[in-house]
Amino acid sequence: MRLRKEQGVLEKLMEYKELMIFRKETERLDLRKIFMDELPVKAEFGTGKGQFIVEMAKRNPEINFIGVELRDQVLLKAVKKASDENIKNVKFLIADVNEIDAIFEENSLDGLYLNFSDPWPKKRHYKRRLTYRDFIRKYDFILKDDSWIEFKTDNLLLFQFTLNELADLKLPMRKISLDVHLDSRFEDNIMTEYEDKFSRNGNKIMSVTFKAH
Ligand SMILES: C[S@@+](CC[C@H](N)C(=O)[O-])C[C@H]1O[C@@H](n2cnc3c(N)ncnc32)[C@H](O)[C@@H]1O
Repeated sequence: MRLRKEQGVLEKLMEYKELMIFRKETERLDLRKIFMDELPVKAEFGTGKGQFIVEMAKRNPEINFIGVELRDQVLLKAVKKASDENIKNVKFLIADVNEIDAIFEENSLDGLYLNFSDPWPKKRHYKRRLTYRDFIRKYDFILKDDSWIEFKTDNLLLFQFTLNELADLKLPMRKISLDVHLDSRFEDNIMTEYEDKFSRNGNKIMSVTFKAH
């Protein structure tokens, strides 16, 4: 998938150099150099306007976070949010999750969040869903052995698809919830932009936490 580069957006992102990760296409990211510390690093793929990752970073100063987003214009909103709140332990990357195993080093991430990933409802598009097995194999490559992936969606078809992928791959799962907002295990749940919108429409939010191997 090609990255959409709106004229001027990249220049605007350059103004937030300290919050952005710009990389050479041939090199994997050196997270120690990027954050200049030894703290764990967790990422959100498809971070959108950044409400979730910025709040995560604010609440967890002992962890570094990376918001990965395909669309630069959307990412600019996330970057501005982090800048306005003066958050130091979050950085942002324009990238396609399809290429994620060529971007991060093997065993370099301590956790991953997939929030309201595009459901790709047409049957013929199932391989584009971010919980399709080929993506999970890429996550396995970049995540450390003891890392977990936290997945949230309001989309029943995508949730069912995800559980079936995890079952087929015999992956460990925990904290399965069919209604996150009524579930006491999610008291510290951080709402994403889409979660705000969908739950206001009466949709239930579902979640599963799993390992990639
Ligand atoms: C439905 S939105 C959810 C945004 C946010 N996570 C939330 O919950 O509010 C999905 C986001 O994932 C991004 N996205 C979709 N496919 C992607 C890919 N292959 N790589 C990176 N980002 C992607 C989209 O641009 C969009 O911003």
